[in-house]
Amino acid sequence: MKSARLHAFTQNPADIRVEDIAVPEPGPGQVRVRMLFSPVNPSDLNFVHGTYHSALQRIIWNYTPGQKQAEVYYDPARRNKCPVPPYSLGGEGVGVVEACGSGFLARRLLGKRVAIAGGPPAGCWQEYCIADAKKAVAMTDDIPDQQAAMFFINPLTAYVLIREVLRVRKGQWVLLSAAGSALGKSVVRMGQRDGFKTICVVRSSTNSDELRALGADAVIETDKQDLLAEVFRITGGQGARHALDCIGGKLADDLVQCLGLDGQLVVYGTLSGTPMQIPGRDLMMPVARISGFFLSNWLAQQSPLKLLGTLRAVKQLTRQGVFHTEVTEVFPLEQVVDAVAAASKPGRTGKVLLRLSAG
Ligand SMILES: NC(=O)c1ccc[n+]([C@@H]2O[C@H](COP(=O)([O-])OP(=O)(O)OC[C@H]3O[C@@H](n4cnc5c(N)ncnc54)[C@H](OP(=O)(O)O)[C@@H]3O)[C@@H](O)[C@H]2O)c1
Repeated sequence: MKSARLHAFTQNPADIRVEDIAVPEPGPGQVRVRMLFSPVNPSDLNFVHGTYHSALQRIIWNYTPGQKQAEVYYDPARRNKCPVPPYSLGGEGVGVVEACGSGFLARRLLGKRVAIAGGPPAGCWQEYCIADAKKAVAMTDDIPDQQAAMFFINPLTAYVLIREVLRVRKGQWVLLSAAGSALGKSVVRMGQRDGFKTICVVRSSTNSDELRALGADAVIETDKQDLLAEVFRITGGQGARHALDCIGGKLADDLVQCLGLDGQLVVYGTLSGTPMQIPGRDLMMPVARISGFFLSNWLAQQSPLKLLGTLRAVKQLTRQGVFHTEVTEVFPLEQVVDAVAAASKPGRTGKVLLRLSAG
């Protein structure tokens, strides 16, 4: 079968190769999924660049005096290893279960269309994937293939950030950077539905009209407008109770200045690649907080019951269109390098998908 593989961390996505590898066999409790579609997400590029691996090398539980560890883990218990290439890429996707190992759950999924998540070493950018039956979510007919391919990463993150991490209440302000992203638009729709207010920060006007149409209360274009002055005007000088940032650098520093008393900024991405440099007193005076978020580590800390409830809620909102994401281009797996280049271009209005096999 064809698989999009990486042989070493690289800054050049042209190094991704489509190779022929053996079709995998499902073990007990597993299913084999014939993949249909998979998105190109920013997290996929992190697996190309080695961003997760180098960040984990700096974390205390991977610390070894005087050494840079080659083997690093996502968790202090060292159960979840961060893989290194060679590996197959792709963080999530949708497909049809064609074969199963032993077990009731696996057998029950046979012939069903499922959304799966799980990146390298055996990622989703291949013709077939093995998934744990417990973690494959059957899709109902009202969720189209292309939307089902994006069921996990952004919808779950948007939901958990708003409902579980920030616990945003009706009427409160949420300030969000990269608001034209798939995740940003989902937060805006959640605001419209749940009654919280959104201030969308974008670096150009490409997505501004769409954000307003989705229900954004305000849009700030940082290429033309002053962030602090606009947030002051919009919030009547009070600042935002909540902020979400996936850019980092100077913009994240500025977002902290826009927080109101007891406000919180959650950092969940680093798209600019530039570190934050926040004066301590910008946090002290407003008694503000900055916290980090990484979906897989959040999920790993939840009980099975909590996970089930969260997935059910996300599926319900997906069926209602809250997480709808426009698809701007679809590439065959053979053109994975072009797909990654298209996904890396500024000014997109939607996602780039890979078509992994015929429907
Ligand atoms: N922590 C987690 O567990 C987790 C989970 C899911 C997603 N995420 C993160 O969430 C973020 C959004 O993901 P997505 O899939 O929704 O993204 P997306 O749809 O691919 O969109 C990316 C957006 O980022 C903007 N952008 C990129 N580089 C920028 C820069 N240097 N300055 C300002 N804006 C920039 C783009 O703006 P233009 O339109 O102007 O080009 C675009 O709107 C990513 O950082 C992703 O890694 C994190």
